Amino acid sequence: MKYWVIVPAAGSSRRMAGSGPPKQYLQLAGRSVIEWAIAPFIELANCERIVVVLAEHDRHWRKQSLARHPKISTATGGAERVDSVRAGLRAIAADVAEDDWVLVHDAARPCLRDTDLSRLIDELADDGVGGLLAAPLVDTLKRADVSDRVQATVPRDALWRALTPQMFRYGLLDRALRAEHGPGAGPTDEAQAVEALGLQPRLVRGDPDNIKITLPEDIERATRLLKSWSAS
Ligand code: CTP
Ligand code: MG
Repeated sequence: MKYWVIVPAAGSSRRMAGSGPPKQYLQLAGRSVIEWAIAPFIELANCERIVVVLAEHDRHWRKQSLARHPKISTATGGAERVDSVRAGLRAIAADVAEDDWVLVHDAARPCLRDTDLSRLIDELADDGVGGLLAAPLVDTLKRADVSDRVQATVPRDALWRALTPQMFRYGLLDRALRAEHGPGAGPTDEAQAVEALGLQPRLVRGDPDNIKITLPEDIERATRLLKSWSAS
């Protein structure tokens, strides 16, 4: 079985609200966020190619030490994450087989454990749909009204946080992501696009620490995690 990896890295980090480089290029624990994010895939057996999808005027990727890795190529992304993932699929279209697996992993997730990646691949090996790493919710959930007062407590049973990687066969993912969408109305992950076809992706339990760098404080949290892993 062959694996192809798409790493969407064409976002604009609006919620970081900083003046520095896009979040995927910030340094933590000795490497950039994107280099941590890609690292678990470098040694993945039967991985054909890793496509890093960059913003049109990206100036940072070529300075990364992985930029010249023989397994890695780049593509240019689009306005929304789904457009960037589509660009990644187009980049492999000539070489990929319908049944090959495609793993999509956010460039902004530096804390993916090798063991989670292996479990995802093992648990989905014979799956007819594919699936994603996810973590069950642990906190009690509140729905707020417009003035931040509790309107309701939402039962959290059966609610999970969707993480990445998400893993689907090329043919299915390509079909799922072809659907047209209006501005801001695209699926926010691959699973949602597959769900829209009436299919049920499998949730594979992953480490809740596989966080997506979204807000400035996430950098400190991810740094702490990565340092604690390398110390143990
Ligand atoms: N992404 C992408 N192309 C886009 C938007 C997002 O490749 N048009 C990527 C981001 O680079 C990131 C991942 O998708 O690795 C998850 O997106 P998100 O956390 O939303 O990143 P940004 O869109 O950069 O952040 P924000 O939404 O705060 O602007
Ligand atoms: Mg975004």
